[in-house]
Amino acid sequence: MSSSFSFPTSIIFGAGSLAELPDRLGRMGVRRPLVVTDPGLLQTDAYQRFERVSQGRWPVFSGVHPNPIEEDVEAALEAYMKEGADSVIALGGGSALDVGKIVRLRIKRPNRTLRQFNFDDDWSGLPPCVTIPTTAGTGSEVGRSSVIIIDGKKKVIFHPALLASLAVLDPELTLGLPPKLTAATGADALTHCIESFTSPVFHPLCDGIALEAIHRIGAALPRAVHNGGDLDARGQMLVAAMMGGIAFQKDLGATHALAHPLSSICGLHHGTANALCLPVVMEFNAARKPGLYRRVAIALELSDVSDAAACRRVRELLQDIGLGGGLRAHGVTEAHLNDLTDQAYDDACHQTNPVPVTKAELRALYEQAL
Ligand SMILES: NC(=O)c1ccc[n+]([C@@H]2O[C@H](COP(=O)([O-])OP(=O)(O)OC[C@H]3O[C@@H](n4cnc5c(N)ncnc54)[C@H](O)[C@@H]3O)[C@@H](O)[C@H]2O)c1
Ligand SMILES: [Zn+2]
Repeated sequence: MSSSFSFPTSIIFGAGSLAELPDRLGRMGVRRPLVVTDPGLLQTDAYQRFERVSQGRWPVFSGVHPNPIEEDVEAALEAYMKEGADSVIALGGGSALDVGKIVRLRIKRPNRTLRQFNFDDDWSGLPPCVTIPTTAGTGSEVGRSSVIIIDGKKKVIFHPALLASLAVLDPELTLGLPPKLTAATGADALTHCIESFTSPVFHPLCDGIALEAIHRIGAALPRAVHNGGDLDARGQMLVAAMMGGIAFQKDLGATHALAHPLSSICGLHHGTANALCLPVVMEFNAARKPGLYRRVAIALELSDVSDAAACRRVRELLQDIGLGGGLRAHGVTEAHLNDLTDQAYDDACHQTNPVPVTKAELRALYEQAL
């Protein structure tokens, strides 16, 4: 069977690059974009910077929940119609970006809800969308999917048409991201890169991108967490998170399968959930596939390139940024394990784990991460 590759999103990167937005929108032929964001963002330094550029010209929908739900997309659709918008600016973390990207499916087909989504419908000609990340984690700004909670479960809705028309990566927008969120979102980016690199799917371009991003994250994430004003570290993380978003179009693994239910059932932040599960999954995988993390160790510039050293370094890194604890400290208990395991097993991400995982093994991994 053949493989196909493409990396089509235009990206602008640099401190202050947000200032180019009005000109870029003009060149895209866009007149009235709807800004899609979340209520928390309105209080941030990032939003103030955005307002200096937008000068109130564009209507704003700020109803996105963290771990967005289907109703958020419906409310965004209503705002888009009411405002007579012709495009979307998705501004914020992965939650806002995902809603901003996917509302365009509803705009194109107002009679087809997200739960009736059919990949094979004609999704060409969606309204243009500019993604502007204010966290450095999900990579959704360049991703071809949106993650939305439908009927209590995280659903990854995938279609190449979801790609943004333009991504604006301005590290100044992440300067005010608090240490906890910097750590959690950075851990998400690290997990994307480690899981995509070790997934057995054939995608050599993604492999190279993932390793380069792991290298950058290993050096920049602790700096960004411990000194939020370090613009260079913020820029490195924004670039690495974007690269992670490209890399994981290859696929993810068991860490993400375990993390998704921790958000939908226990309300954990996505990156935090990944951080708490990644070390146990790496140890599980390494025990069954020796040598799996050798090149991860090299990317992290370790002199010992064994699996054990790579696993140890990832644990240390997560500990250093305040994500070394167990699930229990985040309100997860034994009583959650049945539901968590059922949803994790239903999640497609573990199907591309480097080694197969049974339902009993997923439960055991949760128990270890507790
Ligand atoms: N589509 C994809 O490819 C993809 C990949 C990974 C994760 N996701 C999804 O993305 C979501 C998580 O996104 P996230 O981790 O970016 O968090 P988020 O978007 O949920 O934001 C978390 C919080 O951070 C705040 N925030 C954002 N930027 C800020 C800033 N600069 N300063 C201060 N506060 C700021 C927000 O207001 C919010 O309260 C989850 O729903 C997850 O499932 C999607
Ligand atoms: Zn993720």
